[in-house]
Amino acid sequence: MPADFDTIVNLAKKRGFVFQSSEIYGGIRSAYDYGPLGAQLLRNVKDQWWRSMVQMRDDIVGIDSAVIQSPKVWVASGHLASFSDPLVECRECHNRFRLDKLEDPGQCPSCGTKDSFTEPREFNLMFRTHMGPVESDDNSVYLRPETAQGIFINFENVRRTARKRLPFGIAQVGKSFRNEITPGQFVFRTREFEQMEMEFFCHPDEADEWFKYWVDERRNWYVDLGMTEANLQFREHEQDELSHYSSGTYDVDYLFPWGWDELEGIANRTDFDLKAHSEYSGEDLTYFDPATNERFTPYVIEPAAGATRTTFAFLIDAYQEEEVRGEQRTVLKLDPRLSPVKVAVLPLSKKEDLVSTTDRVADLLRSRWMIEVDITQSIGRRYRRQDEIGTPYAVTVDFDTLDDDQVTIRDRDTMQQDRIPIENLVAYLSDRLPE
Ligand code: GAP
Repeated sequence: MPADFDTIVNLAKKRGFVFQSSEIYGGIRSAYDYGPLGAQLLRNVKDQWWRSMVQMRDDIVGIDSAVIQSPKVWVASGHLASFSDPLVECRECHNRFRLDKLEDPGQCPSCGTKDSFTEPREFNLMFRTHMGPVESDDNSVYLRPETAQGIFINFENVRRTARKRLPFGIAQVGKSFRNEITPGQFVFRTREFEQMEMEFFCHPDEADEWFKYWVDERRNWYVDLGMTEANLQFREHEQDELSHYSSGTYDVDYLFPWGWDELEGIANRTDFDLKAHSEYSGEDLTYFDPATNERFTPYVIEPAAGATRTTFAFLIDAYQEEEVRGEQRTVLKLDPRLSPVKVAVLPLSKKEDLVSTTDRVADLLRSRWMIEVDITQSIGRRYRRQDEIGTPYAVTVDFDTLDDDQVTIRDRDTMQQDRIPIENLVAYLSDRLPE
C-alpha cells in the first residue's frame, strides 16, 4: 500500500525536509524551500543520477547551461508557439483551470456552478521577464522551461571540445520554470523545479535500439536505488499524446498516494531539435562520420527526469511504519546512498568524558560521510529520530567506551548492534556504505 499523502507531508515539514516558501509572509503558492535534510536528500538523488550518467560512463559528458538563453532558442524549439495548456475561467468564481484536467468540463470544481466556463484559451507556460533596465517587448527573455535546449544549442561546442564521436550523450541537472496553471500535490508539481536530463545523440538507424536501451537503463537506476519495482510502471504514449518533437515516448510512472503519476519521460526526439536550431541559427549542426564518410543530423534519445519529483517519490517509497517489541516505529528505509545523514553519533550521556570521545569519533567520520551528532534526549528517542530521517547507522559512545575504546553500531533496518573498536570504525562503515 502506498504511504498516506498527509503523513508524508507532515513528516517532511516536521523533520525539516521541506518548508513552504516565504512561510513567514503567509507562504507563496506552489513554491517550496528544502530544509537541511531535504536539501541533502535532493542533492544525493542528483549526485546518484550524475554518477550513473556521467561519472561511470565514457560516452556521456555533463554541462551546466544558463537559465536565461536567447529568446530565439524558444522560437526554434517550438516552446513560444506551442508550449501551452488550454485554460478556462469560471465566470462565477473567476478561478482558472486546465480544461484537459477537469473531471467534468460542465461544472466548476471550485464553486460548483454549471456551464460557467469561458472558451478555452491557450496559455503559454513560460515565465517571461526582461533583460536590462528597460521593460519592452524587444528585450523579453524567458526562464527556461526545460534544461534540454541548453544542451542542443551547445551540441557542437561540446562535440568539438570533448572530442566525442557518435553515439554520445550530454547530461545536465538544473532548475526549470513553468507557470503551471494547476500546481499541487506538495512538491510534485511546482512552478520552479529541478530536472535531470540527458540527450543521447546517435545515428538515425540506431535510434530505436538506443531508445529501448535507455528505457531499460532508467528502470535499473530506480530499482537499484531501492524503489519498489511494483510501484513503477513504464507506459508507452499513444500517438495523440506525443509532444511536437517526439516520435515515441515512455512515461516512467510512480504509484503516488493519489495514483500513478509521471516521474520521467523517455523520448525519441528524432532530429527535430538540432534541425530546428540549425535552421534558425544558420549554424551547421550536422555530424560527419569519418568511418563511413556520411553526413547527417543525429537523432536524440532523451531520458528527462524531475529531480524534485523523484526525490519526493523516494521519500514516499521509503516510508514505513513497523511494530517493534510492542512499540510503533516510523522508519525511512532509504538506500544508504540517498540517506541525508549516513551516521549518527550518539553519546549515552552529556558527561564531559563521553562528549569528548564523541567529538573524536565524529572527527574520524565527518570527512567521509554526512554525520549528525545528537546529545539530547534519551537514547531510545534519538534512535527513533534517526530512523525517521533514514540514517542507516547510529554509533553509540557509552561508559565502557572510556575503558575499551569500543563503540556500538546499530543498523537501522535490522536494529542489530555490533560492538567494535573505534580504530575499526571507518573500515566497518566503508564496507557497508557504498558510494
Ligand atoms: N525535456 C523534456 C521535458 O522537459 P517533461 O516531461 O515536460 O519533458 C520532464 O519534463 C520531467 O520534469 C517530468 O517527467 C517531471 O518529472 C519533471 N517536471 C515537469 N514539470 C514539472 C513541474 N511543474 N514540477 C515538478 N517537476 C516537473
